[in-house]
Amino acid sequence: QSQKTWSDRFESSLHPAIARFNASIGFDIELLPYDLTGSIAHAQMLGRTGIISAEDANRITNGLEQIRAEAERGEFTPGIDAEDVHFAVERRLTQLIGDTGKKLHTARSRNDQVGTDVRLYLRDRIHHLRDRVRDFQRALVDLAAAHVETLIPGYTHLQRAQPVSLAHHLLAYFQMAQRDWERLGEVAARTNISPLGCGALAGTTFAIDRDDTARQLGFDGIYANSLDGVSDRDFAIEFMSAASLIMMHLSRLSEEVILWSSQEFGFVTLADSCATGSSIMPQKKNPDVPELVRGKTGRVFGHLQGLLVLMKGLPLAYNKDLQEDKEALFDAVKTTDACLEAMTIMMCEGIEFRQARLDAAVTEDFSNATDVADYLAARGVPFREAYNLVGRVVRTCLAANKLLKDLTLDEWQELHPAFADDIYAAIAPQQVVAARNSAGGTGFEQVRQAILAARALLDDA
Ligand code: ARG
Repeated sequence: QSQKTWSDRFESSLHPAIARFNASIGFDIELLPYDLTGSIAHAQMLGRTGIISAEDANRITNGLEQIRAEAERGEFTPGIDAEDVHFAVERRLTQLIGDTGKKLHTARSRNDQVGTDVRLYLRDRIHHLRDRVRDFQRALVDLAAAHVETLIPGYTHLQRAQPVSLAHHLLAYFQMAQRDWERLGEVAARTNISPLGCGALAGTTFAIDRDDTARQLGFDGIYANSLDGVSDRDFAIEFMSAASLIMMHLSRLSEEVILWSSQEFGFVTLADSCATGSSIMPQKKNPDVPELVRGKTGRVFGHLQGLLVLMKGLPLAYNKDLQEDKEALFDAVKTTDACLEAMTIMMCEGIEFRQARLDAAVTEDFSNATDVADYLAARGVPFREAYNLVGRVVRTCLAANKLLKDLTLDEWQELHPAFADDIYAAIAPQQVVAARNSAGGTGFEQVRQAILAARALLDDA
């Protein structure tokens, strides 16, 4: 007869297929370090409150530390029969220290236990992910700093609109990442509340000290309502939502890098360290990294949606459905982590901007047309009138296969007497960008300030 995990209420053991179906040990073993830490805090609290003796509490603590050591040596590998990480630990503990191990679960349920574990796990991972976001931001600022005066077409509707500093373009992603970093901090704060001591759902008959365990585990507070404490997964949904936004930002940047690396744009060359070839077409160099990031974004969005749907019909309090939160959460964490790392490497060493292509792109079009209208408006012509006039000029130029810079001064003055010799300087791409010096604009002065501000943000974190 296989070892039954629960009580003598059961006469026979689980059907093997049902045991496999029910078990979470295959994935919740990831929670092991947190389960041990949570259990040690619980045992210590039981000792301090006199619910068990201090000696028992210490014996339990030592046993749990022994399991930690076994796990670190790769010697703790519970099988399906353990059901989940919580049972696996309790069973091993009892093997190690005897009947005292059976006292650990006094005044506790796996429901408050697993909630505690998941929160400790996520708190750790969020801190790690915030560091990853910082690395990504650093890569963006460094790249931006090298490209303040590199110009790139700015687009709306994916139509060339006005040229911008490449640094300005990159710093837009820095700002998104800054919000991501802040958002993760806010999620961490709401994750860091202790459900331990909520019991199965209703609290416990023992005079436990929830503040004690919360303090030991570094939680900022305790759940005020035990039913809420054991069944709340808002923090996981909030995390997945924050992770989804990170992924959405990475995916947008990925899409741009993919476009930029196409022959049609030709704005970047991918480094050999970050691109792959084709098995049949020898000339190919494929942007696999951004493509994978773009693809994996869907996975994280799916996990967010999955958890929302998982929760929406659950009556209070714990339901086994909640076991389904883990694989999704772990995968969202790992996917976001891996994508941040890959994109950081790509921004550090994976792409090289092709100056000549960029120069051509900002010179050979009409993205300076707004500046002609602005030129007239600054000389007293009502903007809408100027706008219409420049529209006619663009149409004439297109018909004559000319650019604005090709018009002679006579031609300009025929169009409007306000035009003077300085029109040529006003519509040169560098000047077009430099002139947009309004707060938050692409003017070089603004961009240099933005880089300083970005670096300051990175320094004091
Ligand atoms: N493995 C379970 C989970 O992941 C632990 C909690 C089980 N609680 C219960 N009452 N069956 O949610």
